[in-house]
Amino acid sequence: MQTDVASAAHLPVLADEVAFLLRPRRGGWIVDGTVGMGGHAERLLEAGASATRLLGVDQDPEALARAGVRLARFGDRVALVRGSFRRLSALAAEAGVAEAVSILLDLGLSSYQLDESGRGFSFLREEPLDMRFDPSTGRTAADLVNSAPADVLARLLAELGEERHARRIARRIAERRRAAPLRSTADLVAAVKEAVPRAAWPARLHVATRTFQAVRMAVNDETGALADALPQAASLLARGGRLGVISFHSGEDRIVKHSFRSLENAGSFVQLLRRPMEAGRDEVEHNPRARSAKLRVLERQVAA
Ligand SMILES: C[S@@+](CC[C@H](N)C(=O)[O-])C[C@H]1O[C@@H](n2cnc3c(N)ncnc32)[C@H](O)[C@@H]1O
Repeated sequence: MQTDVASAAHLPVLADEVAFLLRPRRGGWIVDGTVGMGGHAERLLEAGASATRLLGVDQDPEALARAGVRLARFGDRVALVRGSFRRLSALAAEAGVAEAVSILLDLGLSSYQLDESGRGFSFLREEPLDMRFDPSTGRTAADLVNSAPADVLARLLAELGEERHARRIARRIAERRRAAPLRSTADLVAAVKEAVPRAAWPARLHVATRTFQAVRMAVNDETGALADALPQAASLLARGGRLGVISFHSGEDRIVKHSFRSLENAGSFVQLLRRPMEAGRDEVEHNPRARSAKLRVLERQVAA
């Protein structure tokens, strides 16, 4: 099982590999479904032909504002829209994008969200327990941990966090909230620390890492959004176009693997890499977040 790490540099992951494999050679639309801070988008625009345009999507308005600043020099070659890639077909249609030569999904959260958003993604800071990528809609992490039945919480922690102590943690959360609702990241960290015996704390991970990951993934329904988006992304691809997905979680990589395999078996697509591409030692040294990244690429066949 692989997990997000607490410290993340402001660097796009596997950026050389993405720019090389997904660069549009003859212009056309790039769709970046997770534009974030615009790092990959910038690399793809630089690497692509000058007729290339980019539609950047993100659920987080603050991320879009940052991407807007970073990509301003590309002028009207860039369009940014707020929304979930779960609605990729509709967002593309609304932006007038009929087909895309490159599509990228770089999953999970950005280093800005982790380190600066103040939305409770990090167990290292005391912040309100929110964790929504789109802060204007849906239930917060506090809503989830204060209302979900303990057995549901335990299942989420086990499935999305692969947390060995899922039941104990869920039980402790339920006990704590009977006294007072959990409101902050510190409350959730305290529940985890009280639930897991000190001797069982992992040596190289913060004891709350897996719980925070599972709660964030549940709050944003990250695996559901991914499963919904992949067929839409594949059908938006132009002939010869490529879809790249970077995942940081074994469950997400499994969804990508199975979806790409079934699209390949259906006949119009081919996977470019037999095994997912991972970051080299150098990159991981500079960007710890790259440690668990896996890139898979699907190409729509020219004759499809
Ligand atoms: C890892 S960051 C992307 C970083 C970006 N590639 C860069 O180079 O700056 C992931 C981004 O995806 C966004 N995101 C996550 N799930 C999303 C979804 N379902 N729809 C749209 N954006 C999503 C997050 O808000 C976050 O900004």
